[in-house]
Amino acid sequence: MFTERLNADDGGIARAVALLRDGQPVAIPTETVYGLAADARNDQAVAAIYAAKDRPSFNPLIVHVPDFDAAQDIALPNDLAATLAQAFWPGPLTLVLPLRDGAGLSGLVTAGLPTVGLRAPAHPLAQRVLRDSGLALAAPSANPSGKISPTSADHVLAGLSGRIPAVLDGGMAACGVESTIVGFEGDQVVLLRPGGVAVEDIAALGIAVRDRTKGETITAPGQLASHYAPDAQLRLGVEQPTADELWLGFGPQAVDADLNLSAKGDLAEAAARLFAALHQMDARAQGRRIAVSPIPETGLGLAINDRLRRAAAPRDQARPPSADSITGSKPSA
Ligand code: TXA
Ligand code: MG
Repeated sequence: MFTERLNADDGGIARAVALLRDGQPVAIPTETVYGLAADARNDQAVAAIYAAKDRPSFNPLIVHVPDFDAAQDIALPNDLAATLAQAFWPGPLTLVLPLRDGAGLSGLVTAGLPTVGLRAPAHPLAQRVLRDSGLALAAPSANPSGKISPTSADHVLAGLSGRIPAVLDGGMAACGVESTIVGFEGDQVVLLRPGGVAVEDIAALGIAVRDRTKGETITAPGQLASHYAPDAQLRLGVEQPTADELWLGFGPQAVDADLNLSAKGDLAEAAARLFAALHQMDARAQGRRIAVSPIPETGLGLAINDRLRRAAAPRDQARPPSADSITGSKPSA
């Protein structure tokens, strides 16, 4: 299969929409990372996402909608969810909500769960594609399973060329890390994955957030320890790398770094560059290890450190979870 690179113009958008309406998967830009999108109500279209990514089929997918109204056709948001959507949509926040009866989603999207992850992306091209197609779009990150998420059309093509019909080229993703995922337990908001919306920004609304990402249970199967894996080994929290390591720096102290995520120590800039930097360092590593500067554990630093820890995790933790780890027990290390 030849993979078309579609331009960010009316013709390119129309082609992407036509392919999606025809039940084919298309990689589209979002403000977080590129997603491999397909009609969430079409079993075959969703199956094509799993096939292109080689993804274990029990991983549920995030469904993208243009706005909160469209979310209500699919799920049953409570008041807290409405408040969060009001504050952060469109944007990098995914809400895990009870599925509405008759929503019509492919069972492959929810992987049999009674809940669905929903997000209204802010990227203008994603918005155009959602509105012009009239579809709810299931879209995981547009990379082969277990590889680093793509933040440009070039990354998408490096991983999936020949495996998908098209990628809509929207340039670099501005946010650079995936969306923050939250769920709800009664009147509590539970953090399932740190991401593009800082937990502090949710807390600033007076909403308490319980952090489940470090806890005992795996409620988002994508929380497998090793998930965002470059080929090279990573060593984290390194102030001074050894001579045979490549150095991925952060902040003004890292003057001799081979690459600096943000020389001025800006976490948003570092997040935007993270995956592209990992791609680049990986290509240069040739058997060498990559040493990474310490990143502060605040704001977007939470999401950055989460992705770095996964990238550094031993590869035997990249195995798919057993069925019971999805329903809540500890993953086998
Ligand atoms: O920024 C993003 O979220 C990107 C862009 C494309 O929107 N998408 C993304 O999707 O990162 P993906 O498939 O790579 O990650 C989806 C995560 C997985 O960890 C999955 O387990 C979790 O969302 N998830 C989806 N539905 C869920 C549900 N009902 N309950 C718990 N976790 C869910
Ligand atoms: Mg992913």
